Amino acid sequence: MTQIIDGKLISQQIKDELKEKVTALKAEGKEICLAVIQVGNDPASTVYVGNKKKACEYIGIKSLAYEVPEETTEEELLGIIDKLNNDDSVHGILVQLPVPKHINEEKIINAISPSKDVDGFHPASVGALSIGQKGFVSCTPAGVIQLLKRSNIEISGKECVVIGRSNIVGKPMSMLLLRENGTVTICHSRTKDLKEVCKRADILVVAIGKPRMIDASYVKEGATVIDVGIHRDENNKLCGDVDYASVEPIAGAITPVPGGVGPMTIAMLMNNCVEAGLN
Ligand code: GUN
Repeated sequence: MTQIIDGKLISQQIKDELKEKVTALKAEGKEICLAVIQVGNDPASTVYVGNKKKACEYIGIKSLAYEVPEETTEEELLGIIDKLNNDDSVHGILVQLPVPKHINEEKIINAISPSKDVDGFHPASVGALSIGQKGFVSCTPAGVIQLLKRSNIEISGKECVVIGRSNIVGKPMSMLLLRENGTVTICHSRTKDLKEVCKRADILVVAIGKPRMIDASYVKEGATVIDVGIHRDENNKLCGDVDYASVEPIAGAITPVPGGVGPMTIAMLMNNCVEAGLN
């Protein structure tokens, strides 16, 4: 029987654990605070930001919303970040991406103090992960590790194949699997014989951005398949990068879409906020 990895359940467990910690901190007089900045009103960003605020409310984290207009200048945005960097009552700072074209995203990410970088996007956070130092880890890959650990799937010594090399998912995912003593291969658009490489995997993490691309012909029997993708298909139904109907029967364990990796991202963001508050 294929193990269906329930991200909804696992993310709920994590949020409940955090809620308990935050309640205890409050009793000691410490309130954790996350500042969320959204520039403009991209509808997808508004949904994501709304979900982050809701999660904060559930756990008991104070959220400060900075909803600033599309025309906000880079200088103004840097000014807000600077003010929040210097505000001791704010523990985490998150600028919802993408930012409008006239703002340099890299400059914005670099301006956030690494000690408040709950997204784990700052070069110092990424560097710390690479050399095994303490720092915030990008939420989606951190969530994948939690899914594996809490489903009792061993990583140490296993062949781990990651498809995708983005700064937010593929690269940190690979570093995290390596940190857990996996043998890691990173695949991307120029990889030759992608299918053959994927078939070696005991753990296959798919973050390729193409709906239902990975079917059973890419998967070794009994492998764990983690699907990071989320898309709407031609019938407006949510699907991932993995062709679930084809892969599920041969996988040892698999994440569904929706209800797999998706809910873990916010749970791990909340975890990073609590850690930021403890520092
Ligand atoms: N836009 C899409 N995903 C994310 C995320 O994880 N963090 C931020 N800041 N923006 C995003």
